[in-house]
Amino acid sequence: MSPLQTRLKDRMELRAREEWPEMDQFVQLRKRIQDLYRPGMSVLDIGCGCGHTLPSLRKIDPDIDYRGIDLSDSMLSEARSLFPEVPFERGNVEDLGEREPSDIVICYMLLLHLDGYERALESLARVSGRHLLLRTLLSPEEYRIKRFRKDGAWFWYNMYDEERFTGKLRDLGFSRIEVVESPLQNPIPYQDEWSTWSLGDRQVFGQMILPWKMIHAQRDA
Ligand SMILES: C[S@@+](CC[C@H](N)C(=O)[O-])C[C@H]1O[C@@H](n2cnc3c(N)ncnc32)[C@H](O)[C@@H]1O
Repeated sequence: MSPLQTRLKDRMELRAREEWPEMDQFVQLRKRIQDLYRPGMSVLDIGCGCGHTLPSLRKIDPDIDYRGIDLSDSMLSEARSLFPEVPFERGNVEDLGEREPSDIVICYMLLLHLDGYERALESLARVSGRHLLLRTLLSPEEYRIKRFRKDGAWFWYNMYDEERFTGKLRDLGFSRIEVVESPLQNPIPYQDEWSTWSLGDRQVFGQMILPWKMIHAQRDA
């Protein structure tokens, strides 16, 4: 199997070790954060996986104040062994409880897999001090899509209505909301019907073209 054909989880682990090129979405995220970052700002990454966003963020500041939250114990144990110096904690994006808000909150490629985004956005808003950066699928209409996985489980692959989604962020007190395309630069080869692949700069899953968007929601200073 060529390196490009390794599965998403393998790619995440290789990236965490910087043995995989920086993914397109993290190049975009890094550039966005670079413009707003000031030394000392705290960054909270929810749905952090094995912490593979961190090498991108350390290009901005090698001492960046980063912590991660994920629901999966196996992801967390991988994250802790890769980055023993970083605080990782088990948590659910829909119930993050009360905590000191972080200056920058990241929640990438997670909301589409939930049964709706409302509770998650409410919880994310509570922990976001100034900037909330999301990557999920937004389209002119809402599609709640339940997909079957190769391992026999069902999971959500939702596309949310962009106007309603951004309206919810506004209701939660974010005064500036920017939605930008989040296309691919690097091709993903077709493997099988269970994996994503690319068509031009679009990612495809099964028969669906994925309308990835980066959403940057900000509160007033
Ligand atoms: C598709 S991965 C995305 C990982 C990373 N954010 C990225 O952009 O590459 C989704 C991650 O969210 C985690 N996750 C799924 N449901 C969650 C939940 N309810 N709360 C927190 N994390 C969750 C999964 O364990 C997984 O690590």
